[in-house]
Order: sequence, then C-alpha cells, then structure tokens
Amino acid sequence: MMLRATALLCLFWLTACGPKKEETSNAKIESRPFGKMPSGQEVDLFTLTNSKGIEAGIITYGARLVSLKTPDRSGHFADIVLGFDNMDGYLKENPYFGAVVGRYGNRIAKGAFTLDGKAYTLARNNGDNSLHGGVKGFDKVLWAARDVTTSGAPGVEFTYLSPDGEEGYPGNLLAKVTYILSDDNQLKIEYSATTDKTTVVNMTNHAYYNLSGEPDILNHVLTIDADRFTPVDAGLIPTGELKPVQGTPFDFRKPTAIGARINDSDPQLKLGGGYDHNFVLNHPEREMGLAARVTDPKSGRVLEVQTTEPGVQFYSGNFLDGTIHGKGNKEYGKRSGFCLETQHYPDSPNKPSFPSTVLRPNDRYTTTTVLRFSVSSGT
Ligand code: GLA
Repeated sequence: MMLRATALLCLFWLTACGPKKEETSNAKIESRPFGKMPSGQEVDLFTLTNSKGIEAGIITYGARLVSLKTPDRSGHFADIVLGFDNMDGYLKENPYFGAVVGRYGNRIAKGAFTLDGKAYTLARNNGDNSLHGGVKGFDKVLWAARDVTTSGAPGVEFTYLSPDGEEGYPGNLLAKVTYILSDDNQLKIEYSATTDKTTVVNMTNHAYYNLSGEPDILNHVLTIDADRFTPVDAGLIPTGELKPVQGTPFDFRKPTAIGARINDSDPQLKLGGGYDHNFVLNHPEREMGLAARVTDPKSGRVLEVQTTEPGVQFYSGNFLDGTIHGKGNKEYGKRSGFCLETQHYPDSPNKPSFPSTVLRPNDRYTTTTVLRFSVSSGT
C-alpha cells in the first residue's frame, strides 16, 4: 500500500514537476524601460527571443520594431533593421523607422475622401496629400502593451484607441498589433481594429531592413510575387491602373538585384526616385501568400515576407540622405535600407476599383504579415 502510494507520488511529481518539453526551449520575453515621452510617460521595450537566438525588440512608442537580430550563414548574429539606440532618436523627425503606421498607411490624395456621402478632410503632411496617418499618426503615439506569450512563443500585444476625428478620420478606432516570435524563425505581426463609425483603415509596419550591414542595399536580391503594380503620378498617388510588370524594371518575379535596374530611364522610377511603388500581389485576396523574398548574397541572410494583404509597397530608401545618424552613430545614406510595407493599395478610399479599406461598426479589420528568417548556403 505504502509502496503504491510512493509510486503514485513519484508519477505525480514527474508529470507535474518533472522537466517539461517547453522548458527545453530558451524562448523568452523580457521588458524594461526604454526611455520617456516628452510628457514624462515611460516607454517600454519588449525583447522577444526564440530558442535559436533570434531576437526582436519592440517599443511601446509607435509599436516600433527597434531591433531584429538574425544569424548570417556562419551563425553570426547582427541587427538587420535601421533605427536608434534610444528614445531621443525616435522622438526626432525620422522616416517611420520600425513603426506601425496608421490609421492609413501610405497616401490618400489631397488628404480627402468621401464615405457614405460624407466628405472628410485629413491632416496633410506630404505636399497636398496625407501620408501614413497624418501629422501625428500611429507611429508617434504610445501604445499599451500586454504580454501574450504562449508556450514557446513569446508575444506582445499593443493596443491604441484612436479617438473619433483624430487626424480627420471618423470613428473611435480600437487598434491592436501583436508581434509573436516562433521557434521556426517567424515573426508574425497581426493587426486588428474595430470602430464605432464607418471609417478607413490600412495598417502596416515600416521597418527598414539591411541584411548585409553594407552602406546600401543595392546588391540584395529581391523577388516579389506580383504580375502587376500600381503606377503613380508626380505626388506618388496611384493613377488607378494595374500595370503588368512584364518588360519593366518592376518585374521582380525572378530574383533580381535591387540595384540592377534602379537607375534605368523608366518614367515610374524617375517619379519615385527609385522604387517607391505598390505591387499587386498574386495570391488570392485575404489568404496568406508570398509577398517578397530578399536574399543578401554576402551574409546569406534571407528575409521572406508573407501576408494576407493584397499589396506591398517596395520602397528602396530613396529619401534617406545621410542626415540621420542611427544606431552606433551609423550614417543612414541613400538606399541604406529598404521597406516592404504589406498593405492595401495607396489612395484606396478614392479608388473604388481597388480592394476596399472601409471598416464598418460590427466588422473587424484583421490582417497578418509574417517575416521569416533563414540563410542561403550559396554565395
Ligand atoms: C513610404 C513612402 C515613401 C516615403 C517613406 C518615408 O514608404 O511610400 O514615399 O514617404 O514612406 O520616408
């Protein structure tokens, strides 16, 4: 009897207190103060680490991805996103480094649109147009953070309630962004929002990547799974046309160096000062599919972007001009980083033929983008 009780106790101890599978994973989440807002409010940094040592740092200011450490082909880890070492940098004027942009990522022509017969005027911050949510978009607000780590997958959820009328947009919009890092080397970014008045939403992440640490990204090899793109006018507003990439420098259906055609005399490249265009992704709408893959031949790092969004803005960092000094005082010169902003097409509120960005009360906006990190063995 005594023996049986001891055996049962041992069994209980082994199941309840013995080594568990997830304890063998070194995945973890840590948080610490990162700095302060001008108001004195604290800004926190959440660091997610997976069992392979990949590390993503995200701050509550702008829900910004401020660091992303991934290995090269010889296992050497380096930070592959542009940004700053501390809050001072982020509080100064900068082109959305690592930020979640919203309510409406990308441009709305003349900062105006009509919804259900009502005209709305937005804050204009890009010539005549409204860009990335206006003067004070989601990149410049403090988000509330909550640890949503599940076994083996560190995660953090950011919430921001954008009041009715903010930057001219209708409706109280409750926006959420969740970053989850998994052991299969994927950083999943989930966006969701609800509203109490019909509005428009288009959130994305504006990280600038440089997989090599070189002064520019022109040797990175890019594939975009898009047969068409949206040509723009001089204000970088889509004309409405979905133009085949075939026979143009916008054809990235086969892996091609970013710099291979960037200086071609193509009129669209001239308007963008390089690539700053939305690509119409081939995968079926709302289903997860490949947006782009970038390989750096030097380090072997590969970044693959998958998304449920119908488009991706490929921006080759044309406006970076060396005036900003970032992490470790590094000079961020022209094309020192590239962005792949998964999104609905720019100016959709004024383009009825584009997939809709309208969100109504009782509906829920949800999109997901996954960044997958790997290495290629070839040179
Ligand atoms: C986006 C735009 C670019 C530029 C950058 C920020 O990617 O499409 O034109 O405004 O943001 O500098």
